[in-house]
Amino acid sequence: MGTSESGSVQDIEMQVVEREALTDDVVRLTLRVAGTGSLPEWEPGAHLDLHLDADLVRQYSLCGDPADREAYQVAVLREPSGRGGSAHVHDVLEVGSAIRVRGPRNNFDLLGAQRYLFLAGGIGITPVLPMVAAAEKAGADWRLVYGGRSRASMAFVDELVERYGDRVTAVPQDEDGLLDLDALLSEPQDDVLVYCCGPEPLLAAVEQRCAGWPKGALHLERFAPKELAEPAAGGSFEVEFARSGVTVTVPAGVSIVDAAAEAGVDIETSCREGTCGTCESEVRAGVPEHRDSLLTPDEQEANDVMFPCVSRALSEKLVIER
Ligand code: FES
Repeated sequence: MGTSESGSVQDIEMQVVEREALTDDVVRLTLRVAGTGSLPEWEPGAHLDLHLDADLVRQYSLCGDPADREAYQVAVLREPSGRGGSAHVHDVLEVGSAIRVRGPRNNFDLLGAQRYLFLAGGIGITPVLPMVAAAEKAGADWRLVYGGRSRASMAFVDELVERYGDRVTAVPQDEDGLLDLDALLSEPQDDVLVYCCGPEPLLAAVEQRCAGWPKGALHLERFAPKELAEPAAGGSFEVEFARSGVTVTVPAGVSIVDAAAEAGVDIETSCREGTCGTCESEVRAGVPEHRDSLLTPDEQEANDVMFPCVSRALSEKLVIER
């Protein structure tokens, strides 16, 4: 994992300085700080928390140029069946709107490699944009396969094809059907890193096809939590917060974060559904029941970090660095 330490991310008061409709339902916002000064650095794959309203915080990938230290850009799809975040961005934010952001934070680091296969579905193209730019700049051998409902719905598609030519394969579903994952992934390759972002069915299909690939080859980013069965450890367990010197009992149905808050231990959260990485905590002892949508199976197995907004314990006691 490459999440920033929660202590190093910061709240930034910003302003929408540009608002551009990229498709019928995707809008790109350019944000700048009021006043002068450089924005915190970020790497491809990073996201920002946008504080849209008192109880409305949403994560959006940075899709601009990391070298631009004066502005951040995000592109947001209107999701009619969403929970209000994208509707707020589309219907309320306009040029001149003030907005607090927190971050950047990165759960989707681009590791160094000679070869990359980037797979994007729909608005999942956003974190991939700075990644392909970085891969190109580094002289890597890379390919992007980008699917969407129709060409008109696929933000950035024309500029990607124009800029990178046949490294980019656009797959509008109404013309060409779904991405041919069998052709792309059936042969495991030991010198290719696969990066994928998009809707859950695409992510699940890519995970399944990459099961036989070398460990660490596949990197995914989920915007929505994976569907999980009920926790295996249904009952209560103990958590010791090593730094605070506090131990709590976490009852069934209560999150570690909430049990911690009751005992006066504040764990910063944002999504509270195991997708954003804000609450990442180091595990000192015990075995977590990982219920996040961030860690790879190898990272979960290592048991050195966990996300206490959703994860629980398989052992009777956990000791975490809080
Ligand atoms: S608060 Fe987002 S992962 Fe825990």
